Amino acid sequence: DDAEKGAFPHYMLKEIFEQPNSLRNAMRGRLSRDDGTAILGGLNMTPQELRGVDRIILSGCGTAFHAAMVGEYVIETLARVPTEVEIASEFRYRNVPADKNTLQFVLSQSGETIDTLAAMREARRKGIKCLGIVNSVGSTIARESDGGCYIHAGPEIGVAATKTFTSQVMIMTLLGMLFGRIHHLSSADGMEMIDELEAIPDKIASILTQTDRIKAIAEKHANAEGMLFMGRQANYPVAMEGALKMKEISYIYASGHPSAELKHGVIALVKPDMPSVFIAPDDAVFDKNVSNIEEVLARKGPVICVTTEGRTELERLTDDVIYVPDCPSYLSPLLTVIPLQLLSYYTAVARGCDVDKPRNLAKSVTVE
Ligand code: AGP
Repeated sequence: DDAEKGAFPHYMLKEIFEQPNSLRNAMRGRLSRDDGTAILGGLNMTPQELRGVDRIILSGCGTAFHAAMVGEYVIETLARVPTEVEIASEFRYRNVPADKNTLQFVLSQSGETIDTLAAMREARRKGIKCLGIVNSVGSTIARESDGGCYIHAGPEIGVAATKTFTSQVMIMTLLGMLFGRIHHLSSADGMEMIDELEAIPDKIASILTQTDRIKAIAEKHANAEGMLFMGRQANYPVAMEGALKMKEISYIYASGHPSAELKHGVIALVKPDMPSVFIAPDDAVFDKNVSNIEEVLARKGPVICVTTEGRTELERLTDDVIYVPDCPSYLSPLLTVIPLQLLSYYTAVARGCDVDKPRNLAKSVTVE
């Protein structure tokens, strides 16, 4: 056990640090510079069949659900194909409209989650083509789906999913690029995207060098009564993922919201022992996030910010600013989630929690 963890005290920390490599593995052999597109042969679909898809449904549970939410944003941004996220645990109890031009993807690390499996079986019963985005090779979802794509993240032992989230988001991005290129993106657009994608692993490695600073911020807030996570656009699901990680391993109640929802209710919770974590990279909605941060500070709520290198003005508002490198906004979840994983990890450690095996949770939920 210790040998497998190497120098890391927990699998979760090891898996967080594996992300530069797990993302290289998710991309390996799947980027074509000649055509400026992604190659995902496992989808078993011709370009003509892919062009016929007029609606995409993404389903998963927990962290995979959050990756799907990022996917909705990325696919619609890059490809303009209408995309919806249906939480897998509800899918078979709803009657989701779909037809022969609808394509469904189910996302699952284990490939064994019963709710996700049931969503896939229900979709296929209704004639919807259903593809798996899976980590575990040969798992039930991988075997029963109409095709799909392995994320190649390697074994994930920590109950809290980390590297599989970023790898799922990476595959969502490759799908966005693939669909974008058969609709309206140029090969030059695709080539630029490939450059940006290939830069991501080193950018994550640079975030990981700030671990001591993130640990200090986590320790400062480790006795919080609760935590709020806020983000906009593709960073709204990142806020939800940050909150899920915090709940799972530190047992601090946390919730993730679109930043603008603050004033519709969440702000009632703001007080000195309820820190708010804002994911506010340098994007079109940066200033909007800053006004939300000011609203929280005016009510004496502590603020932790994840922002882009160079946006030092946030240091005038709070001491707890964590920087990530610049990247196009559709890729920012791959970077902004890293500090949140570390924040939850070090908060849990400071609280003496069993990080790799949190209470009441199993790595894979195989019963309903
Ligand atoms: C994530 O940290 C959780 N442990 C959990 O939400 C998990 O993502 C969910 O149960 C789905 O699992 P799967 O990816 O194996 O289907």
